[in-house]
Amino acid sequence: MKSQKLNRQSSPPRLTLAVISILFLTFLCILTSINEIRFAGLVKLGQNALSNISYNTFYACSITSLPNIDPSSTSPETEIRVLLGILTLPDQYQRRHFLRLIYGTQSLDQGIKVDVKFVFCNLTKEDQKVLVALEIMRYNDIIILNCKENMNKGKTYTYFSSLPEIFNGTGGPNPPYHYVMKADDDTYVRLNSLVESLRPLPRDDLYYGYVIPCGSMDPFVHYMSGMGYLISWDLVEWISTSDIPKNHTEGPEDMIFGNWIREGHRAKNRYNAKWSMYNFPVPATRCTHELWPNTVAVHLLKNQEKWIQTLKYFNVTNNLTQSKLYHIP
Ligand SMILES: *[C@@H]1O[C@H](CO)[C@@H](O)[C@H](O)[C@H]1NC(C)=O
Ligand SMILES: *[C@@H]1O[C@H](CO)[C@@H](O)[C@H](O)[C@H]1NC(C)=O
Ligand SMILES: *[C@@H]1O[C@H](CO)[C@@H](O)[C@H](O)[C@H]1NC(C)=O
Ligand SMILES: *[C@@H]1O[C@H](CO)[C@@H](O)[C@H](O)[C@H]1NC(C)=O
Ligand SMILES: *[C@@H]1O[C@H](CO)[C@@H](O)[C@H](O)[C@H]1NC(C)=O
Ligand SMILES: *[C@@H]1O[C@H](CO)[C@@H](O)[C@H](O)[C@H]1NC(C)=O
Repeated sequence: MKSQKLNRQSSPPRLTLAVISILFLTFLCILTSINEIRFAGLVKLGQNALSNISYNTFYACSITSLPNIDPSSTSPETEIRVLLGILTLPDQYQRRHFLRLIYGTQSLDQGIKVDVKFVFCNLTKEDQKVLVALEIMRYNDIIILNCKENMNKGKTYTYFSSLPEIFNGTGGPNPPYHYVMKADDDTYVRLNSLVESLRPLPRDDLYYGYVIPCGSMDPFVHYMSGMGYLISWDLVEWISTSDIPKNHTEGPEDMIFGNWIREGHRAKNRYNAKWSMYNFPVPATRCTHELWPNTVAVHLLKNQEKWIQTLKYFNVTNNLTQSKLYHIP
């Protein structure tokens, strides 16, 4: 491609232009390879722009070595599989029932699979062995990790690093999920919106979430908030095999997560989901946002009133069918 351009364009100004373009392409390639492209600010251009930029950069680099680009690699796959793990405690029965109601009534668009699972460590009480087993028999939406319940002692590490083995040989597709998310049990995730926001994004080396600190829009600095963040399956596999996360499991879990990614030079693709993810508007802080249609997740739903306000805002009961069996004004 390069030599063709040079032969065709004989007049000196054009030649200069060609040389400049090639230098610029090379520069882009170098930028990519040192993992330091800053998408901040560009994120505001929206998902299309972000994906255009990453595709174009990739294109520019591969074009010199791969003249024939497989057209199927650029056509978007329609099927998306996401695992949404909600980290909670065995005794939180009421919370699980409530969240099942919330997620069980969200109808997913065609081609979307989102498995919502509750994740906790080893059971410790006799009643849990009966009640949790019954829940599993009824709902089959629980993952019990091999760990002791803890705060900041590696539950997040155990979660991500256990998944490749847990889903190994279950006969499903490969990878079992394109993306794995970790979310709080006081976060409301709108599943269709989440998946729509993922469609234009790369399916590998991706770290997606709400950038901390709250004022920052740069996903390449610091880490994603524990309200909910998502990574591609290849990063899940990396966590399960690399020594970097294994050797650093203690400390504030989501911050530690960001350290692994930085130390391991992972996640060249990042997506700052701010302000489609945010804290509930009250009490107002730098991390809050008004409820608005363009929402993937609302966090800090600490009481029933906040949940109700949020569910009402998103019209979740609009599709209730009419019946003589009940009347709801
Ligand atoms: C991204 O690229 C597609 C196809 O080339 C184009 O239709 C779309 O307008 C672009 N989006 C932006 C925001 O540039
Ligand atoms: C969790 O339970 C399993 C089996 O019940 C046991 O083998 C394992 O040692 C326990 N793990 C921890 C960290 O207590
Ligand atoms: C998955 O199972 C195969 C066959 O049993 C085994 O060789 C492989 O190491 C397993 N992989 C993981 C990640 O556990
Ligand atoms: C992790 O710890 C082990 C044992 O302490 C050590 O041998 C290894 O070099 C460490 N790896 C990293 C990446 O820090
Ligand atoms: C909820 O329904 C109302 C009335 O039909 C509509 O005006 C509003 O835009 C809907 N809200 C959302 C978030 O879709
Ligand atoms: C109501 O149902 C329609 C069709 O099934 C669906 O497209 C729409 O998203 C649903 N609305 C809500 C608020 O769940």
